Amino acid sequence: MAALDYAQIADIYDTYVTSEEDLPFFLEEAGKAAGPVLELMCGTGRVAVPLAAAGIPMTCVDNSRPMLSILRTKLKARRLPAKVVHADATRLTLDGPFRLAIIPFNSFSEFRSTELQRSVLSGIRRCLAPDGRLIVTLHNPAVRRVRIDGQLHVLGQYPLADSDDTLTLQSVETLDPDTGLVSGHQYFEAYDRDGRLVWQRILTVAFRLVNHREFQDLVREAGFRVESLVGDYARSPFVEASSPFMIWALTRTDALQCA
Ligand SMILES: C[S@@+](CC[C@H](N)C(=O)[O-])C[C@H]1O[C@@H](n2cnc3c(N)ncnc32)[C@H](O)[C@@H]1O
Repeated sequence: MAALDYAQIADIYDTYVTSEEDLPFFLEEAGKAAGPVLELMCGTGRVAVPLAAAGIPMTCVDNSRPMLSILRTKLKARRLPAKVVHADATRLTLDGPFRLAIIPFNSFSEFRSTELQRSVLSGIRRCLAPDGRLIVTLHNPAVRRVRIDGQLHVLGQYPLADSDDTLTLQSVETLDPDTGLVSGHQYFEAYDRDGRLVWQRILTVAFRLVNHREFQDLVREAGFRVESLVGDYARSPFVEASSPFMIWALTRTDALQCA
């Protein structure tokens, strides 16, 4: 069972996930790659579609058929070439070699065990070019954990396409401080223009906050060298106390270290 069942919210994902702050960063990195780019956990193509539109040869992997169906529709509507692959990132068997692999939007934190994280990294390493790169974006636990307080938070209100209804998204999260495991629920409610509830859905969420030393050890063991770590998409240096993100740029190395 996936940590989050994206089939439940695939049709509304693009309504409430509208962030574009990482797009210039990924456009620049993908442009530098000058070759095939692999996006894992691509979802509905929030990042993949702009990259494909910029002429980047994209392979887009996700294990949710409903999310991929929306991506395929967008690519077709824009007549963009991209390879779309339904696959589990923990069991990758892709032909490469890719110049760059990316896992945007903190999605790596959905792999909650070290075993799964290792499987993902070794699958990526196998299909990267010898000097290929991997970019992984993660929450900065020191900052993200402040918002995890067991209380109900309104995350936003969004107009729903093709109706006058409004989507309200609320969330509750709790943290196990010993393991970094976060569990919670997201509450989706659609209201009509008279404020009447039209429908509601509940999504169970589960992910794990990974601290920066743990991630560093993990990637080194998996055969990657840390090229850089920045704390936001403007590439500010990572500061543990205040950076919103950990944005890791890694390079494949020849050697694998024993765990
Ligand atoms: C938070 S969404 C991110 C989507 C997109 N990258 C974005 O930035 O909007 C995480 C995505 O990871 C996918 N996913 C979760 N577990 C996966 C797995 N084991 N293998 C492949 N995709 C997975 C989900 O289906 C979902 O589309």
